[in-house]
Amino acid sequence: MNGVIETIENRRSVRKYKPEQIKDEQLEAIIRAGLYAPSAVNQQSWHLTVIRNRDILDSLSRSAKETLAAGDNEYLKGYAKMEKFHVFYNAPTAVLVSFDKNAIAPMADCSAAIQNMLLAAESLGVGSCWIGMTAPYFSGGSHNAEFGIPETHQPVYAVTLGYSDSEKGKAPERKVGTVNYLN
Ligand SMILES: Cc1cc2nc3c(=O)[nH]c(=O)nc-3n(C[C@H](O)[C@H](O)[C@H](O)COP(=O)(O)O)c2cc1C
Repeated sequence: MNGVIETIENRRSVRKYKPEQIKDEQLEAIIRAGLYAPSAVNQQSWHLTVIRNRDILDSLSRSAKETLAAGDNEYLKGYAKMEKFHVFYNAPTAVLVSFDKNAIAPMADCSAAIQNMLLAAESLGVGSCWIGMTAPYFSGGSHNAEFGIPETHQPVYAVTLGYSDSEKGKAPERKVGTVNYLN
């Protein structure tokens, strides 16, 4: 099978990581892949913040959990109340993805960058997971200065990166009826 398609089909979210840090060249290749995503009218409206500091990752996980625990989504509350739950699954690296508040299609741009990073990670033998649980914390107020993010941007998602410490699961079944063809 074509290597790109194989990478797409093999990628799975990783939720258990080895403590070992990924190699600098792997990180750089993954970030570069993110930056090569398509974007509406080529605005490249994302801002990526690479966090490799354990204290910052742990502190952000705690803050995100506090926000989720105070929210009204029972599903997310359940996770937030689990003492051992870490929103980044203790991965050694997380990339915070911020969107330009004035861009034309910032969520689409950021999502394209995220998917590129997930696929690049898979192709390099690096585990990854798209993290949305950071979003409520960042939507509640500006934390930009703390994370060195331009005021024009707002953090939303994160991508965890690290070497997987779990067996690769099977891809969830694909829903049927989500495609139609007009020939
Ligand atoms: C917008 C978005 C937010 C997500 N947020 C989380 C998250 O906070 N935590 C998590 O473990 N997985 C998160 N995921 C990953 C999905 O749960 C995962 O992609 C889905 O279950 C399919 O599994 P797969 O990635 O192994 O194919 C998120 C995915 C997307 C697209």
